[in-house]
Amino acid sequence: MTALKEMSFGMMPHRAQPAANCRSRTAAPNSPRSCKDAAEAESGESSQPFAGKIGATSQRKDEHIAICLNKDVSFRKTNGFERYDFIHKALPELNLADIDTSTTFLGKHFSFPFFIEALTGGSPKAFEINRNLARAASEFGIGMGIGSQRAMLDNPEITYTYQIRETAPCILLLGNIGATQLAGLKTEAIVAMVHKIGGDGLAVHLNAAQEMCQPEGDTDWRNVLANIERICAQTPFPVLVKETGCGIDGQAAQYLAAAGVACLDIAGAGGTSFTKVESYRSTQNLHSLGEWGIPTAESLRQCRQAVNIPLIASGGMRTGVECAKAIAMGASLTGFALPLLQAARQSHRDVVAYLTILGEELKKAMFLVGASNINELKRVPVVSRHHSAETVSG
Ligand SMILES: Cc1cc2nc3c(=O)[nH]c(=O)nc-3n(C[C@H](O)[C@H](O)[C@H](O)COP(=O)(O)O)c2cc1C
Repeated sequence: MTALKEMSFGMMPHRAQPAANCRSRTAAPNSPRSCKDAAEAESGESSQPFAGKIGATSQRKDEHIAICLNKDVSFRKTNGFERYDFIHKALPELNLADIDTSTTFLGKHFSFPFFIEALTGGSPKAFEINRNLARAASEFGIGMGIGSQRAMLDNPEITYTYQIRETAPCILLLGNIGATQLAGLKTEAIVAMVHKIGGDGLAVHLNAAQEMCQPEGDTDWRNVLANIERICAQTPFPVLVKETGCGIDGQAAQYLAAAGVACLDIAGAGGTSFTKVESYRSTQNLHSLGEWGIPTAESLRQCRQAVNIPLIASGGMRTGVECAKAIAMGASLTGFALPLLQAARQSHRDVVAYLTILGEELKKAMFLVGASNINELKRVPVVSRHHSAETVSG
């Protein structure tokens, strides 16, 4: 087990350098009050405005958070990166202290090639989590996505629960909406939705497996690609398409790139299984679908071969070494959801602490393969354990 998996969330992280293109305008510290269980956000006990007035979508989101924090929702199968190895450099010819993990993505500077995946929004509890994530993203110098904005479209009163731009003025911030919701939305409404949160772009999520498992889910997936193409053509910002834990295959990646998508976040299997999450809300027997999805490493390999647009590798990314492998295999960034939700319910410091350990692990992996910066890491060979002659990249 890695140090990361054994870490105590109570530890004090050492502070990361803020992003270079970011003047330090940090928001007021979060309230020190402890996070209550997600489900309590609906009880009316919260001191936040509009508590108790949240609708069905927000309620579902809070249920997802409560389930993810309290139940086993992880895939049994792995993200697949253990099937790939770096070739150890016995002579790194580098000073570990000089390793530079910074990179640029969609025009923004990142101190590390890390992204906080879309998680939540829509309730007072979700606001607190989003604020902790945003503060950590700003301090650590990385980007983040907010959770699906469907709830704020249904109920504009809860828009504030997504508005964390003041807390993180300089980070790459992405809005979020489900792919099947696009059909019912005019382009102007989508643009306004992203502008309301000060977003730099929009993440459209593909979650067919999850919707199918939800009692209230949307199972008509016709014309989704045409709607994505329309949004890509008509919005003034980049559109990213992401999965939510089942991965993206090479052919889908080709269709999406041809539709004008700026980048893909593969969100493969190996971390949070949303069919498992839904199984706790459903009366259906969803057991056979709990392990559904393409492992992240396989999804990354397929997408990298299929398209030239930037990729984010996410879905069960839990160590800095896995992140290093993903970057060497063609990802621009690596993304994390569930572990950061667990940290963010405590405090922004716990999020920074988690990211700091990932960053240290990434640096050590870079040192041991002789990569002094992210561009060099991208050129390092990764070999498949099962076919040791096959070089995946480099
Ligand atoms: C509680 C929770 C809520 C999520 N909500 C959203 C969402 O609203 N929109 C979205 O695109 N992805 C959502 N996701 C999916 C994550 O962004 C990510 O793709 C997935 O959890 C895989 O990453 P992980 O294995 O690191 O958790 C959610 C994940 C969790 C755990």
